Amino acid sequence: MTVSDETTRLATASTPDGAPTPERGPEEVFEATVAAEGRIEPRDWMPEGYRKTLVRQIAQHAHSEIIGMQPEGNWILRAPSLRRKAILLAKVQDEAGHGLYLYSATETLGVDRTELTEKLIDSRQKYSSIFNYPTLTFADIGVIGWLVDGAAICNQVPLCRSSYGPYARAMVRICKEESFHQRQGFELLMTLMAGTDAQRAMVQDAVDRWWWPSLMMFGPADGDSPNTQQSMAWRIKRHTNDELRQRFVDMTVPQAAALGVTLPDPALAWNDERQAHDFGEIDWAEFTAVVKGAGPCNAQRIAHRRAAHENGQWVRDAASAYAAKHADRSEEPAA
Ligand SMILES: [Fe+2]
Ligand SMILES: [Fe+2]
Repeated sequence: MTVSDETTRLATASTPDGAPTPERGPEEVFEATVAAEGRIEPRDWMPEGYRKTLVRQIAQHAHSEIIGMQPEGNWILRAPSLRRKAILLAKVQDEAGHGLYLYSATETLGVDRTELTEKLIDSRQKYSSIFNYPTLTFADIGVIGWLVDGAAICNQVPLCRSSYGPYARAMVRICKEESFHQRQGFELLMTLMAGTDAQRAMVQDAVDRWWWPSLMMFGPADGDSPNTQQSMAWRIKRHTNDELRQRFVDMTVPQAAALGVTLPDPALAWNDERQAHDFGEIDWAEFTAVVKGAGPCNAQRIAHRRAAHENGQWVRDAASAYAAKHADRSEEPAA
């Protein structure tokens, strides 16, 4: 089954009749809906912890899409051909769209996107650690598509079955586009690998730099991820961080072989007993440092986002003034 078939089928699963009755209070309806794989919708009763967890998770996801435009945007003006420029431009625009759907999903939970943007630029909310690494060569664009969008797909396909309806539905379209991003990255790398020795070396160097940060995208190891159990009980999350990381490694190893690149981990080996790949220990000290703001590009990413927000103030002012004028006019009596 393809990603698209599966995601469409899962996100359109029906919601059981969820009206509270004198016998069933709203909390019971919520629990029963979640247990029956139904969807919680914006007007349904939900526990405050569920709402807060979703706001935190979806906002973090939206911020990652928006901040994630920067490392790739860095190469739009330097893409080696018109074709590569058009592809990269389209991909970066897709990421902007993903951010906007996700901010809309958070708004169904009673928060405002301006408030979320302010939290991002004040570093009170996080985004994915991966976007704090620099894009040094054009091979990084291929590797980001292959590994970073590939890891995003592993993380996000199960979210199409998330219990919160607006999030699950947003994820369907996002996953279809991420799947395209992953393939364009792979195709770019195939082209480079069929080129010169210098091009092949450029790809290997990019793989060496992005492999470990890509594994960190799945978050801390299960033992250090305190919110996972509650998120899984609420069916916001469907698999643990380590399960998804393992799935990504198993999916990527044969792709690396097909490309002819080496993944930079001497401990990487097939384990017949587990029917999965063993792999080396992640540098968790690096992960923690990057999450806390000490990665190579954290300050630059936030400064850039802050400047874009401040420079956009006149657009928001103009849009508000236009909307107010329009509202005044519609109140005028017809002639
Ligand atoms: Fe995206
Ligand atoms: Fe993407």
